[in-house]
Parts: sequence; structure tokens; C-alpha cells
Amino acid sequence: MGTTYDHPIPARIMHHVNLICLVAMVATGFYIHKPNFSLLGIDMNLARYMHFITAFVILLNSVTRIYWALFGAPRDIKYFMPEKENRGKMFPMMAYYYFLRKTKPKTSKYNGWQKATYVLWTIALWFMALTGFAMLWKTNPFWSSVVSLFGGLGMIHAIHYLVMWYFVFTVLFHVYLVLFDDFKSFLYMFFGIKPEEEAF
Ligand code: HEM
Repeated sequence: MGTTYDHPIPARIMHHVNLICLVAMVATGFYIHKPNFSLLGIDMNLARYMHFITAFVILLNSVTRIYWALFGAPRDIKYFMPEKENRGKMFPMMAYYYFLRKTKPKTSKYNGWQKATYVLWTIALWFMALTGFAMLWKTNPFWSSVVSLFGGLGMIHAIHYLVMWYFVFTVLFHVYLVLFDDFKSFLYMFFGIKPEEEAF
């Protein structure tokens, strides 16, 4: 993971909103998909209700995060774009992740894989919104045409379910990397503990 440790409070709050919403969405979504799995006594009506409420919260959070990245004080959109320092570092970084090299390549705040992951999460989230709202409002003419575009209701449920697994696996990988490769960043993100100067 990157070596620049700056996670301002707004970024940390929005990160945690994403975390809470995503856990709730995977749990309730999985239950909607397989209702025979018990979800702490939560019934289908409540699970669906929670799924939709968290959908609105996470989407609002996503809009806020994009706005803040573009116009907020740190204008950190640059960290999500290609940067000179990262040029030619994708394969060395991959080799480091797979224990094929010992030293971590020097990159900007986020290396190319992180940038790609974070941008793809945003795209995948809005894709979930598209497929989710199409399922929710399937009787509306516009949304029913979206359902047809995806090959019908069965297909759209299956696609929405599959993309959930994309989130599950990539988030697990993210958690693994932050805990085992970038613990300082974890302490900063969750507890606001700033690393020593020399760590910058
Ligand atoms: C962001 C906006 C989202 C909206 C509007 C949305 C909406 C919906 C709707 C309407 C359903 C169908 C409910 C039913 O048939 O009773 C559903 C099912 C589901 N959602 Fe979402 N969802 C969203 C995001 C997510 C996310 C982020 C995840 C997980 C990462 C997720 C996972 C699931 C799963 C697994 C199902 C069950 C699919 C199936 O029928 O097999 N959803 N969602």
C-alpha cells in the first residue's frame, strides 16, 4: 500500500459509512437471495427495507465523496488518477503482493492497483444501483426497459448477486492488505493515530 499517510476526518467518516453500509448490504442481500439462511431473526420485509435504506445512504455517500474529491480542501481526486511516480510499477507491485520480491516499490499515496480498485468499486456501486433500482421499480416503463436490457428479471437478480461476490472478495483482499501490509494506515483510518514523521 502507499506510503503517504493522510486520511482527513471527512475521508475517514465517508470510509466508515461505506464500510457499515456495505456490510449491511451484503448481509441483507445474501438473505434476500437465500431466505432459508437466518439473519438474526430479521424477516424478509425488514431485510429488504434495510437494503433499500442503506442503498440510499451509500449512494448519497458516494456522491458526497466524489464532490469532496473534486472540490473539497485536499482535492484528492489526483490520488485516484494515473500519476508519474507510479509509472511502470504495476508488475513490480504485483510481484511484491505475491511474495515474488521483498521490497515494496515506491509509489504515490495509492499504487495503481489501489487506484483501480477504488475507482472500480465506485463504478460497481453505481452498477448495483442501476440493477437494484431496475428490480425495485420493474413495473415502471423506463426501469422495465433496463430489466429487458439485462436479459430479464432472473438475469438481473443473478448479475446483482454475482457483483456482490466481486465486492466480498475485493473487500476481503483490501482488509488483508491493510492489516498485514499497511497497518499504520489502518491505525490512522480507524483511530486517527498519525504515524511518526519519518514514516511519511
Ligand atoms: C446501491 C444500490 C442498491 C440497490 C438500489 C439495491 C437493490 C436491490 C433490490 C431491489 C433487490 C431485490 C430485492 C427483492 O427481490 O426483494 C436486491 C437484491 C440483492 N442485493 Fe442489492 N441493491 C443495491 C446494492 C447492493 C450491494 C452494494 C450489494 C452487495 C455488495 C447488494 C446485494 C444484493 C443481493 C445479494 C441481492 C439478492 C439478489 C438475488 O435476488 O439473488 N445490493 N438489491
